[in-house]
Amino acid sequence: MKQIGIIGVGYVGLTTAACLAEMGHQVIGIDTDRQKVALLGQGQIPFSEPQLPELVERNLRAGSLSFTTHYSEALRDADMVFICVGTPSSPSGHADLSQVEAAARQIARFATRSLIVVLKSTVPPGGNAEWLADILQANLPSTIKAPLVVNPEFLREGSAVYDCFHPDRVVVGAWDTAAAEEVAGLYVPLQCPILLTDPASAQMTKYASNAFLATKISFINEIARVAERIGANIHAVAQGMGFDGRIGAEFLESGLGYGGSCFPKDVLALSAIAEQHGYSSQLLQAVMEINATQREWAVLKLEQALVSLQDKAICVLGLAFKPDTDDVREAPALELINMLCQRGAQVQAYDPVAIPTAQKVLPPHAGLRYCGDAYEAIQGSDAILIATHWPEFRSLDWDRVRSTMAGSTVLDGRGLLSSDQMRTLGFEYLAFAS
Ligand code: UDX
Repeated sequence: MKQIGIIGVGYVGLTTAACLAEMGHQVIGIDTDRQKVALLGQGQIPFSEPQLPELVERNLRAGSLSFTTHYSEALRDADMVFICVGTPSSPSGHADLSQVEAAARQIARFATRSLIVVLKSTVPPGGNAEWLADILQANLPSTIKAPLVVNPEFLREGSAVYDCFHPDRVVVGAWDTAAAEEVAGLYVPLQCPILLTDPASAQMTKYASNAFLATKISFINEIARVAERIGANIHAVAQGMGFDGRIGAEFLESGLGYGGSCFPKDVLALSAIAEQHGYSSQLLQAVMEINATQREWAVLKLEQALVSLQDKAICVLGLAFKPDTDDVREAPALELINMLCQRGAQVQAYDPVAIPTAQKVLPPHAGLRYCGDAYEAIQGSDAILIATHWPEFRSLDWDRVRSTMAGSTVLDGRGLLSSDQMRTLGFEYLAFAS
């Protein structure tokens, strides 16, 4: 059993804290946000993540998990401290490491004994691990050792708890072998492959993994553009490809492209790191460009179907960047709503859980109304745009939908519905090459 501090209790930090507590460790989560810490102490999770509320509640009650705003409290007896703060994109495209630096400086200030510093935040390779180790060494008393271990996360929002307990692999990058082994030891009960390597290779593994998944998505979206021109069905193509074990069936769903707090940021940061080190990645540039223009494709399709978007009522179903989360960061839906409103459309939007988070970044206005359920959003619309593949949209009463819409156009941005069924019901069904 280890005493573990977790700095930053957001999507990654809170999931990591709860899972390590569940695995028998004594965990204290640290955050600068007093209100968030107070809510967490009462078992209230400030975002939607399946299974996480129960996991936090159980470990709060068991006394294996607690939260504080005081580093001194969390580091006093810590064997390890995890840095799980955000690394958002800066205007230049590089990852903003200011929160990571602040966490390292606080560790150096409040550590009272030697401990292992585990970097779980997504930090680009190319000298940042050395930079962080230098900050720790320069600010700690010489009697306190704080070896740095890079341990990137591979958690998917919406299944983060499952992914924590069932990782495909754990990657541990360190110069200090003993420290690496101790961190690797945390994951032995999970019985998964554990790769021990150097920090830069561990960081690059994280970026390369996300960039490859993003590349698969932009690849299938480019193939969909060709398929549409030659009359091929992209879903059949993706299925046919997926049977090949070397390709794999996942991440071949064509549609509005990727969003979220990882792929956009990580592909951009990797591209920026490459540029910084004298290499311009044509492939990563193309991945980002294809992804960005998927949104334009959707608006063009709606304009073609409705002749003009001016004063048209467009129902947007789905706001979150993917199902099973309320996260709207880089969500295609929000970008599309702005593009539709700029063209004079009246948008009526619905999402099962993400309306509160969407409203914070995109408040209602003359051209945008958030609705209480899907049917309210559909009522009187000239067209429907499905922007998130929530399963509940598949099980709508599409006969009822047809009769309550003003128009008959459905643009299925996520390949959720059957083109044959929708066309039989009398819809003008639009999708990416299906
Ligand atoms: C991703 C990685 O999967 C995870 O390993 C990493 O730790 C963090 O980033 P996440 O961003 O939560 O996880 O979501 P993911 O399920 O990967 O989907 C990312 C985006 O790609 C979503 O917008 C999703 O709609 C889109 N997507 C996914 C597609 O457009 N097509 C697909 O086939 C799969």
